[in-house]
Amino acid sequence: MSINIFSPVNLGALRLSNRIVMAPMTRDRAGPGDVATPLMAEYYRQRASAGLIVTEGTQPSRTGKGYWRTPGMHSDAQVESWRPVADAVHRAGSQIVMQLMHVGRVAVAANRDADVEAVAPSAIASTEPVPGPDGTPATTVTPRALETGEIAGVVEEFARAARKARRAGLDGVELHCTSGYLPMQFLSTGSNHRTDAYGGTTTNRVRFVLEVLEALAGAIGADRVGFRIFPGNPYNDMQDDDPAETYAALIDAANPLGLAYLHLIHYPTPALDALALLRPRWSGPIIANNALKLGSAKALLAGGQVDAVSFGRPFIANPDLVERFRADAPLAREDRATVYTGEARGYTDYARWTADAAS
Ligand SMILES: Cc1cc2nc3c(=O)[nH]c(=O)nc-3n(C[C@H](O)[C@H](O)[C@H](O)COP(=O)(O)O)c2cc1C
Repeated sequence: MSINIFSPVNLGALRLSNRIVMAPMTRDRAGPGDVATPLMAEYYRQRASAGLIVTEGTQPSRTGKGYWRTPGMHSDAQVESWRPVADAVHRAGSQIVMQLMHVGRVAVAANRDADVEAVAPSAIASTEPVPGPDGTPATTVTPRALETGEIAGVVEEFARAARKARRAGLDGVELHCTSGYLPMQFLSTGSNHRTDAYGGTTTNRVRFVLEVLEALAGAIGADRVGFRIFPGNPYNDMQDDDPAETYAALIDAANPLGLAYLHLIHYPTPALDALALLRPRWSGPIIANNALKLGSAKALLAGGQVDAVSFGRPFIANPDLVERFRADAPLAREDRATVYTGEARGYTDYARWTADAAS
């Protein structure tokens, strides 16, 4: 059965007016104290014709921060700062979930408070630099391996952040389990050399993510929790001996939780087609992402294997991406120089498309 991209869909408790999701994108515009700002509320409001907005990666704790000017969801000021963002998106008719992103070892000292240490499954540094405050690549720190007894506390940080997100009026949370951050560090053999119940076997490497998902579901309801994966993603120095086995085990373990959705970055290779591998194992909705265009997104939906599609970069320069898709209008390209800098410039000053402007 062919699915219309503009038709409504429910993902758990989330009610989408269309199947076009704004993918999470770090934009480095948070204010002092890692709060959301009025400019961020305006940015998300402009893009609220998406059926669902996933916020930029947001740290559940000070330890979880790795990048410059990223927002958090652990202080009272942060809770208050996000309320106008959620309100603006709701008034514009959309829904918004917060992406919870804990960087683990992907931590640059200059981007964080001086008194927080970096923690990870094992004391193995990433070999990939990430941008420091001035945008130039900086070396990440060598993390301290979490003690077994500390892990429950880290899991609880996520649950607390989820409750706060709901208190601020957001509709749910998405756990960031890819791009080399803490959850993926636990999943992957290259970064997880633990010998306790959180390392070694596939079941053990999956345990941390499963515990976080269970805690999130317990905190705000499973039907408001999604998670994002990209099996085999090498970003931030990730290696895994057998991503197919790891992610099959993760999905088998997470499927019974009845979560709102799985957000899959779909980049099939001859070695691994994650959608083919995971679709039969996952009974809930799937949002698919990666370099989609309107045509390829429609084709993916028509295949009946995914329920919604997400777009990242196209939403940067096209605040009215959904309207443009409806009109089959041309898309603007983002200015790369202002993706992470420039305050309002390159953020909230992209024009909406009108038929007049095109003629
Ligand atoms: C500027 C920028 C920031 C991003 N930040 C995040 C992030 O915080 N969390 C995340 O899961 N993915 C992040 N991504 C990845 C996007 O969500 C998306 O998966 C990727 O851009 C591919 O989709 P696209 O081809 O539609 O852009 C980011 C991408 C871009 C371009």
